[in-house]
Amino acid sequence: MIGKLNHVAIVVPDLAAATALYRDTLGAEVSAPLPLPEHGVTTVFVVLPNTKIELLHPLGEDSPVAKFLATSPAGGIHHLCYEVRDIRAARDRLRAAGARVLGDGEPRTGAHGKPVLFLHPKDFCGTLIELEQA
Ligand code: CO
Repeated sequence: MIGKLNHVAIVVPDLAAATALYRDTLGAEVSAPLPLPEHGVTTVFVVLPNTKIELLHPLGEDSPVAKFLATSPAGGIHHLCYEVRDIRAARDRLRAAGARVLGDGEPRTGAHGKPVLFLHPKDFCGTLIELEQA
């Protein structure tokens, strides 16, 4: 059911510094910062030949990644994003298997303008998983 690894997301305490690190030190192609108020984050995408790295920084009052930085001030890996062809079919199959879909279970528009859902880390080896309809 899952397809390509779309991206690995890393929460960073300083978005400009992390962007410079990937662009200048690691020599990668990086996007401009993209604020996503609905998700409470600002993102920068690092484009690699086979996948992307999503740099995440808190945006707004109750950002879901602010808590992450409170416990991990240096930042760290936040989630993995896998592509699926049909996100509602994937959700229904996972729910039938007993997996917990976060929020109300309705896909929201993610950083690429495509529908996304998140799955509970306790059901997936301690890893928060994002599904994106590709
Ligand atoms: Co993501």
